[in-house]
Amino acid sequence: MESKKELRKLISMRKKQVPVEERRRRSVPVMERLMGLPRFRRAQNILFYWAMQDEVSTQDAVISCAAAGKNVFLPVVDGEMLRIRRFSGRAALVPGESYSIPEPVEGSEEVRISDIDLVVVPGVAFDMEGGRMGRGKGFYDRLLGEVRGDGAGPYKVGVCFDFQVVDAVPREPHDMLMDAVVCETRTEIIRNDNRVCSVFGIRYPIVAGGMVWCSGWRLASAVSAAGGLGLLGAGSMKPELLREHIAKCRAATDRPFGVNVPLMSPYATELMETVLAEKVPVVFTSAGNPKTWTARLKDAGVKVAHVVSSSKFAVKCAEAGVDAVVAEGFEAGGHNGREETATMVLVPQVREAISLPLLAAGGIVSGAGMAAAFALGAEGVQVGTRFALCRESSASEEFKRLCLGLKEGDTMLSLKKLSPTRLIKNDFYAQVQEAEDRGASKEELTELLGRGRARLGIFDGDLSAGELEIGQGVSLIEDLPSAADIVRSMMDGYRRAVAGMQVL
Ligand SMILES: Cc1cc2nc3c(=O)[nH]c(=O)nc-3n(C[C@H](O)[C@H](O)[C@H](O)COP(=O)(O)O)c2cc1C
Repeated sequence: MESKKELRKLISMRKKQVPVEERRRRSVPVMERLMGLPRFRRAQNILFYWAMQDEVSTQDAVISCAAAGKNVFLPVVDGEMLRIRRFSGRAALVPGESYSIPEPVEGSEEVRISDIDLVVVPGVAFDMEGGRMGRGKGFYDRLLGEVRGDGAGPYKVGVCFDFQVVDAVPREPHDMLMDAVVCETRTEIIRNDNRVCSVFGIRYPIVAGGMVWCSGWRLASAVSAAGGLGLLGAGSMKPELLREHIAKCRAATDRPFGVNVPLMSPYATELMETVLAEKVPVVFTSAGNPKTWTARLKDAGVKVAHVVSSSKFAVKCAEAGVDAVVAEGFEAGGHNGREETATMVLVPQVREAISLPLLAAGGIVSGAGMAAAFALGAEGVQVGTRFALCRESSASEEFKRLCLGLKEGDTMLSLKKLSPTRLIKNDFYAQVQEAEDRGASKEELTELLGRGRARLGIFDGDLSAGELEIGQGVSLIEDLPSAADIVRSMMDGYRRAVAGMQVL
C-alpha cells in the first residue's frame, strides 16, 4: 500500500493531466450516479462536505442538487466550530468560477448534523471499500465521527473522478469510512438498507445459488469477494470434499459465503455436521422440509435460508424460523416445483404470504431481471444459470459452450414423476421423454436415470448421455465473463433498469 504522501503525489500528477474544463464535463456522470442512489433520492437535507473548494465541478454539483429540490447545506468553519448553513440559492455560487467557502447568505438557517440525511464527501483519493483520504487534519472527520457515534447518523457518499480511485487508502482511526463511493464509471454501495444484505452481511443482494457440479470454492469465493453471496453446492459433494472446499473458500476470501445443502442428498446429515463443525456462517437448504435443520443451525448462530416453490412452503419456512426465503419459479435450472409456478406469479404471492426477507430465483440473468423481481416484492435474487456460465464455474467447457448456443425452448421440465428437473434437450432427455410418454413407472425412470448422470453431463462434458441441467434464462446468455463481472453488470443493469423505467 502506498503512503499518504505517495498517494497525494500520484493523484496530483493524474489530476494535472485533466484540464479544468474536462473535469467539469466528467463530473456530470459522477453527479448522475450520485443522484441515482436510492439514499440520495430519499434524502431531503444534504450536506456538502467541503474539501475541494477550488474544484468547480463541486460547485456545479451543489447547484444541481439544489435544483433537484434538495435542501443543500455547506459547512462553515468558525474557529473551533463547524457550522452548517443552508445554501439558499444560485446567487451564492457562480457556476464555472472558483470560490472560497461562502459566508452564510441572508436568510440562511443553521442545522444540526443530526438533521442531515446524507453527506456528499469529496476527497483526494478513494478506494472502493469506503476508504477516503482527505485534506487537512481530519477536522470534519472527527466532528462528524463524534456525532455519528456507533456508525449510525448521516449516510456518507464519496464522490470522485476515476483518476482519484486507488487500490487502498491507508486508514487512520479518525478517518471516516464512506457508505458509498461514486466515480465516473462506477457506483460502489458499501452500506445499504437492504434486508438481504444485512442478514448475510454482504454488499449486494445477489446470491449465486448452490449448483451441483458448478459451484465449488472458485465460484463461491469469487462471488463473495465481489460483494454478493457465493454458495458452495454441497449437493454434489461428500462431507470430506465439502470440508476441503470450505477451507479453500476461506483462504480465497474473508467475505461471508455459504453452503447449499439439498436435504434430499444421501449425505445431508453428514454435510450439515460438517457445516456446523466448520462454522460456516450461512446455509441455504433446499429440496426438503425447512423444519428439519433450521433450529439446530440457528442455535449455532448460522443464518438460514430455504428455497421454496410455493407460498404454502414459504409459510412453513417462516414457522421453522428461517432468516430468509428463496422463491424459485419454474424457469429455474436444476430441480423444480411440481406445480410449475413461474417466478412472475410466485414471487408476489410469497411476498403476500410472509414478511421475511425474500429472494427471487428462476429466470433472472440480468440487472433488468433483478429489477423486475424487486418490482414484485423481492429484496434479493438467487441466480443459478448465469453463474453456471462464467469462468469460475466448474462445469466443463463442453457444457458451457453448448449452453452459449441455446435458444428459447431448448430446455424443458423433465423427470416429472421423480423430481421435476429442467434439462437441455439431448439424447438422454429424448430417452426420458419417450419413457414418460409411454407411461413408464417410477422404478423404470429411476433405472434409466441411473447414478451420476448430472456429473457425466455437466462436469465430464458428455453432452449426449449426460443429464444437462440449466435454466430457461440460458437463451439470454452469450458470454462467459468472470463472476465479479456478472455481479458488477447485474448491479449496473439493475440501476439502469430502475432509473430508465417508464413512469406512467
Ligand atoms: C446446473 C444447476 C445445478 C443446480 N443445482 C442445485 C442444487 O444442487 N441445489 C439447489 O438448491 N439448487 C440447485 N440449482 C438451482 C439454483 O440454485 C438456483 O436456484 C436456480 O438456478 C435459479 O434459477 P436460474 O437458473 O434461472 O438462475 C441448480 C441450478 C443449475 C443451473
